[in-house]
This record gives sequence, structure tokens and C-alpha cells, in this order.
Amino acid sequence: MVISSELDQSGAGVLDGAAPSAQRLFEPHRDASSPNRNLAPITAELDADGRLQVGGCGLSSLARTYGTPLYVLDEASLRATCRAYREALAAHYPGEALALYASKANSSLAISALVASEGLGLDAVSSGELLTALDGGMPADRIVFHGNNKSRQELALAVERGVTVVADNWRDLELLAELAPGLAAPVELMLRFTPGIECHTHEYIRTGHLDSKFGFDPDQLEPVLRHLVGCSWARLTGLHAHIGSQIFELQPHRDLAGVLADAVALARSLGHPVGDLNVGGGLGIRYVASDDPPSIQEWVQTVGEAVATACQQRGLALPRLLCEPGRSLVATAGVTVYEVGSRKEIPGIRTYLSVDGGMSDNPRPITYQSQYTALLADRPIAEATETVTLAGKHCESGDVLLKDVALPPATSGDHLVVLATGAYNASMSSNYNRIPRPAAVLVQGGVADLVQRREQPEDLLRYDVLPSRLTTVS
Ligand code: LLP
Repeated sequence: MVISSELDQSGAGVLDGAAPSAQRLFEPHRDASSPNRNLAPITAELDADGRLQVGGCGLSSLARTYGTPLYVLDEASLRATCRAYREALAAHYPGEALALYASKANSSLAISALVASEGLGLDAVSSGELLTALDGGMPADRIVFHGNNKSRQELALAVERGVTVVADNWRDLELLAELAPGLAAPVELMLRFTPGIECHTHEYIRTGHLDSKFGFDPDQLEPVLRHLVGCSWARLTGLHAHIGSQIFELQPHRDLAGVLADAVALARSLGHPVGDLNVGGGLGIRYVASDDPPSIQEWVQTVGEAVATACQQRGLALPRLLCEPGRSLVATAGVTVYEVGSRKEIPGIRTYLSVDGGMSDNPRPITYQSQYTALLADRPIAEATETVTLAGKHCESGDVLLKDVALPPATSGDHLVVLATGAYNASMSSNYNRIPRPAAVLVQGGVADLVQRREQPEDLLRYDVLPSRLTTVS
């Protein structure tokens, strides 16, 4: 049963992070063509008993089978966002274009394989992300390798496998020049520079402003382009800039097009065969009802038209347009299911409801004060009659997933679902308090496939070494 839109289309009365009813949560934010504006995966619906299911799988039944916390990824939503980028790029950019999935958002063999099967490329920033992409079947010629402090080993892996390296600084160029003599072909290179564009997002995830650790300073662009003219080991194929993440404004992306087109003009004037213009990622998503990000289509249209116009104005042959969406490709496809445990009522102050995960599987609330939306898996549309704070199980007072949210009464053993956890949750997870990482399942058509096994406490001891002189307890 697809959740009806009849009860409440307005979304009125929806508190940030609250779960007053599934109808209000999902409507009017339910549009298969633009999933980043939805609150829930596009297959989220109620079963005959009113329980929440995703991809045809009941969430509480998944929790019983696979344990909690459990990351659940909806394959239909993932494919819908890939398709949305692909189709929007074809519709709104007159030249060739390719979306590269920023795998830092959620890196796994399964997601790499799925994204590759949708015809997208991928952006990796470490040997781990690179190996995951390659082993997941992503063709090397659709991968770009980023990073502001790449090791010699990481660079060697990238160039040996034929991956395009995005040079971020002079050190990258020095290391590549040392590696190049052993290679059969010149290194395919892009240059990243800081575009000097401000945008409104959390300061930790802003990268376009001048005070950023990423990329060549704009003043260095011409010197580095001139330097590369003399480097026969390198073939400069593109220029890159990225302004930040979880951005709702469109204007900074328009401004970026002009800055990048100027850089392409300069590079080509010096004889570099620059065919790729890479605008990075950054499009935001809806975490709570009041968030209002542009759709993927609007973002791509803005970027596509701005790049085409900027190139025409400068008399430049159209480059291939690359973009690197991370969050907007995977966030809304994912939900996390927890089991509710203890309850602490502090009269006149607050009621804490603790779940069996928290900051180790979702560090975003404690890191960025991010807001989320939660609901009960088996009573998603029950009346929200109490205000509770959903706490994690870690030894840290700040380990709170959602603060003061309206929920139906919940007791120990109930399953709680946090929406839009597909990006920067699993990939930023930790073992704080030696808590094992959750399992992840990919759901589709009533079938759940395990794509990440649950860690066990014993797994966490695998890399510990106990020196023998410490083993005799006196
Ligand atoms: N390209 C580059 C070079 C990037 O640095 C990033 C994100 C992206 C693409 C993808 O951006 P997206 O489309 O996901 O906004 N941990 C933070 C987000 C950090 C983003 C870092 N770079 C969070 O949880 O909000």
C-alpha cells in the first residue's frame, strides 16, 4: 500500500525532526524524479498492518533478521538518483557530460557496482575508496582520484590502474614526476584549484573559500599551468573546483562556471588539451520537512546552462562537463533502524529514549548539529503524543541523534527509523566505545541482500597486539 496523500498534503505542523504522521512526513515530499527533495526512500510505504516497509521489506522484520542498528539502502532510490543526474545532464548540457559519484558519501562494493551499472563514474580520495571502486567493477577510466595529501603509494596505485589523478598541490606533482618514468603512458591529470567562492553551509564542509586546505590557490594556477607545459610525463585533461556540501543556493554554482571557464581558457591558451570541466558536488538534500533544496534537475540545469554560456562567452569549444554528487545520490536512499532500549524521564526537563547505536554509526548530529527525521517502524502514523530526545548509547552526553522530537509513545524493543542516513553515516562511522559497525542491506522488490556484514566485538580486537611482557599480572 503506497502511503496516501489524502490525509495531509500540506506538511503543516511538521516539526523539524518530528514524526507526527507518515503522511505528513512523506507528502508533499514524494517525487520519484527528484529523490533528493524527498524525506524517505521512494519505495517507502505501509504494509497491510500499517508498518513501514522500504523496497518491499518490512523494516522491523529486517531488524529482527539482521540485528540493529541496521543500515537499509533502497536500490530503486539509488537508481532513480543516478538516472536523474544522467537524464538531466543529457537534457541541459549541449556537450558530453558525466556524473562521478563522490564515494566518500558511502563507499562499498555494492554501491560501486550499482553506480557503475547506471553508467556513472566515481570520485575516490584514498586507496581504500579506490580499491572498493575498482573491485566493485567501476572502470578505471571513469574514476578520478582526489585528496589534499595523497601518499606515494596511493598515487602509484592510481596511475598504475589508469585512474585520472586530480592534482591538489605541488607535492602531488613532485611525487607523480618521480613515479612517471616507470609508466607506459603519460599520467592523465586534472588540476584542482580554490575558486574563491563563498557559500552558506556548515564551516567544516565549506571548501570553495580562499582559506581552504584543498586545491591550488588561484594565484598559483597560472604558474602551475606553465610548469606543466614542460612536463612530458603529464597530460592535463581537466580542471576542477568544488565549493562545499549540503548547499541549497544555486548562485554559487553559476559563479563557479565562470571561474572554471576562465581557467579552461587559460589552460588551453598555454597549449593544454583540457577537455574536462569538473564542477565538483555539493547539492543538498531534505533531512527535515523544512529543508528546501533545489531538485537534481534544477541543479543540473543551472550548472549545465551556466557552463555552456560561460564557454560560449569566451569562445571556448564545449568541454565535457563532469560533476561529483555524493550526498544527493545516496542520502535519501538510506535509513537506519535502531532498537529502543532504556528510558529516562527527568520531570520538567526532558525524556531520554536511548537506542542501540548513535554517534558511532551517525556522527553527523554531534559533528555538524545536523537534524534528522525519525519515526517508529511499526507505528509510523500513530499520533505523536510525547516529546522525547533520542540518545545514543555512547559515553558522551552529546551523543544525541534527535533532540526534543514528537513521537508516538515508544517502549523498549520498538524499532525506530531515522531517515536520510544513506550519506556520510556508514562512511563516517567509528568504533567509539568499541562498538561494532552495523550491517547494511540493499533492498529491492521484497528481497534484502546483505552488502556489509555486521562487525562483531571480537573483530575489533583483530589489530590489537598485546606485548608478552604485559601478560603476566602480578
Ligand atoms: N567532490 C569533492 C572534491 C568533495 O570534496 C566532495 C565532498 C564532493 C565532491 C561531494 O559533495 P556532496 O555532493 O556530497 O555534497 N561529511 C560531511 C560532508 C563532507 C563533504 C566532503 N566533500 C557531511 O556529513 O555533511
